[in-house]
Amino acid sequence: MSSTGTPARSSWSGKWAFILAAAASAVGLGNMWRFPYLAAKYGGGTFLLTYLVLVFTFGVSLLLLETALGRTTGQSAIGAFKQFGKKYAFIGVLASAVPFIITPYYCIIGGWVTKYAAAYLINGPEALADGGDFFTGFITSNTESFLWMLLFMAIVFIVVSLGVKGGIEKANLIMMPTLIVMAIAIAVYTLTQPGAIDGALYYLVPDFSKFSPELVIGALGQMFYSLSLAMGIMITYGSYLDRKSSLTQSVTRIGCFDVGVSFLAGLMIVPAAFVAMGSGDAVAGAAGPSLMFITLPGVFAGMGDAAVVVGFVFFLLVLFAALTSAISLTETCVSIIQDGAGWSRKKALGTVIGVVVVAGIFVNLGYNGLSFIEPLGAGTTLLDFFDFFSNSVLMPIVALLTCVFIGWIVKPSLIVKEVKLSSSFKAEKVWTVMIKYIAPVLVVVILVAYVAAQFG
Ligand code: PFF
Repeated sequence: MSSTGTPARSSWSGKWAFILAAAASAVGLGNMWRFPYLAAKYGGGTFLLTYLVLVFTFGVSLLLLETALGRTTGQSAIGAFKQFGKKYAFIGVLASAVPFIITPYYCIIGGWVTKYAAAYLINGPEALADGGDFFTGFITSNTESFLWMLLFMAIVFIVVSLGVKGGIEKANLIMMPTLIVMAIAIAVYTLTQPGAIDGALYYLVPDFSKFSPELVIGALGQMFYSLSLAMGIMITYGSYLDRKSSLTQSVTRIGCFDVGVSFLAGLMIVPAAFVAMGSGDAVAGAAGPSLMFITLPGVFAGMGDAAVVVGFVFFLLVLFAALTSAISLTETCVSIIQDGAGWSRKKALGTVIGVVVVAGIFVNLGYNGLSFIEPLGAGTTLLDFFDFFSNSVLMPIVALLTCVFIGWIVKPSLIVKEVKLSSSFKAEKVWTVMIKYIAPVLVVVILVAYVAAQFG
């Protein structure tokens, strides 16, 4: 993404720069932290299968739509929709609200990851493997969790203010493959633990009695979140892409890469949770945002002398994945304000920092001073609420509006033409049916079924 924010379109140095930047934005806490706990919570294999089907039908189609829309209009979200008439700008405005909701709480989790990387060196692996007391004590502490959140935010803001290009993109080239190798190694180790094979079966084999509207809406929200969809970012990324790069090939690669990392993270964490808790039902009952911070340290602690190194390197790599995504989220917020208000980059960044810090403090208070607010039922927090509201409510609505807009108002031929500028489009018919009919109906059915289940 352009870090200069000037109205002139800068462009990627090539197809791979685009794929890498999109993958760096996509692969983050959503893969390492969010996907495994959702898979654990929603019955393992059933969730995995639903997720895969959604990504390779709806997800990749929307990814193609967004990047092509960006490339053809040469604009970021609000401008892209506005180009077809002022009255459509609201879709871009709704999409733009998403990164503002996600960034503050993303930085809170980023702070947890930073703390854990440091804690392997300071407190040692045993201290972290105490069944959750360390984690609970930390996130409910009054000042400590704030400070780690602020530290994470400081790194993000410094990088964004310096410009993202060079360093981060190059570092990605090393960190992403290392993360994958580590994830494979840890998954293999986990699977050799007694009882882990049952956990792997729970994760891999669908049990259709576990199917529910909540599961599908959870998988759908996760798909948007993980692929960085329905929040305008891929429109912006597409607007920097030259007309030579094949869109179909790029989006397929991004989808495969993102799913691959999530799959591995699940294989690493879900069987480990199974070993710790003994049954699928126990895992489903206990799974939540804390899974990565409680279950994995338990696995690492069993690795003897290697535990410090493995724990530290693992959380360092997750930290890196989280940073690149948080940087891309913050960049998005900055460019929205710049484009929308016509402010300088400095003023826009200052405003984003102010908003994110204040909102972050507020959401973090949900674990201590404001823990009496349980927005989604007993035991839930403000963080759960913002996560749910952005991913499972706002993003499906934005995706629905985008599909209806392109499918019925602008007409899909605009996107088809753009795609064909750089490659053949064998799936043209399937894609068109997807955007015009299947995707909108699917989102409406899921949302209605979900609301009905809440009141039923
Ligand atoms: N896709 C990221 C993840 O899975 O962690 C989250 C994210 C990053 C969403 C950047 C949006 C974005 F612009």
